[in-house]
Amino acid sequence: MHNAPVPLTDRFGRVHTDLRVSLTDRCNLRCTYCMPAEGLDWLPRAEVLTDEELVRLVRIAVRRLGITSVRLTGGEPLLRRGLPALVARLAELGPELSLTTNGIGLARTAGALRAAGLHRVNVSLDTLRRERYRELTRRDRIEDVFAGLAAAKAAGLAPVKVNAVPVRGVNEDEITDLVEFAAGHGYRMRFIESMPLDAQGAWDRSAMVTADELLALLGERWELEPVERVRSAGGTPPAEEWRIAGTDTVIGVIASVTRPFCGTCDRVRLTADGQLRNCLFATEESDLRALLRSGADDGAVETAWRRTIARKGPGHEINSAAFVRPDRPMSAIGG
Ligand code: 5AD
Ligand code: SF4
Repeated sequence: MHNAPVPLTDRFGRVHTDLRVSLTDRCNLRCTYCMPAEGLDWLPRAEVLTDEELVRLVRIAVRRLGITSVRLTGGEPLLRRGLPALVARLAELGPELSLTTNGIGLARTAGALRAAGLHRVNVSLDTLRRERYRELTRRDRIEDVFAGLAAAKAAGLAPVKVNAVPVRGVNEDEITDLVEFAAGHGYRMRFIESMPLDAQGAWDRSAMVTADELLALLGERWELEPVERVRSAGGTPPAEEWRIAGTDTVIGVIASVTRPFCGTCDRVRLTADGQLRNCLFATEESDLRALLRSGADDGAVETAWRRTIARKGPGHEINSAAFVRPDRPMSAIGG
């Protein structure tokens, strides 16, 4: 097919160019704000998309639907077997390719992933303290994350971003330390407001450190200047960014709850078991796996995909009484 892709536009005029693909729902950590100590009922292997199926869906997304950026997530995407080979096949399709990981195993794979065509990584790290990390993730693995970050930078997976979810009474006292750590290593720090997407349903709004609080806290320490946002073909990027005056240190804030960016959302998500979601908070999914396995041709998959986007709502309504938690937790949807 040599036709130019037709943009994936919804009824509010939002153009979708960013695809988030979950490669597995499994994880080797048990972050307390994400899942219970015993883990979750993982998807049976037969329900997870094969590499072949995944590559086909991404090909359709890029060639027919105008997806230009693909982010690989999980669960923990590095747990996917044969990941470098899969990355190489996806890179061949031409999108900008990034990965969100907890960093464990990255020291071992960063070079191979870069060589396979991965462009960038986001590494989750909520604390710099070993004991606190062990409590928060229920695993004593902080050194692996530090090594993974260093390996990502050495491999040229630039910029390396560090994601932290600040939670009151947990790690809010480390916000400036995290900024200094990232700046000192040449990583870019980003803070993400905690969202009601944990598996336990224990999200507590009052424990969320809001963007306003975060900025007030950072403002006590540094003079911050807003960084002008560059719009992409899709929308405005969700991270608001500030530069520490007189430096090249940039801090990102993703205020999904208190400053929702649904109006410029350009994202669509594919779960590890092949369900298409038009929003992180969607309560409906479209079963692309069943479609693929029933022998549908690319045109039929494209049609189903467009239909899912056509049904996309205006926003997540976390702040309204009408808010309904999605059936699946973040780890099963893909972050
Ligand atoms: N709210 C906000 N962020 C979350 N993450 C995981 N669960 C939540 C939640 N409930 C973060 C991870 C990772 C990114 C993919 O999302 O820490 O950095
Ligand atoms: Fe794993 Fe990420 Fe959930 Fe932590 S937040 S348990 S790293 S999926």
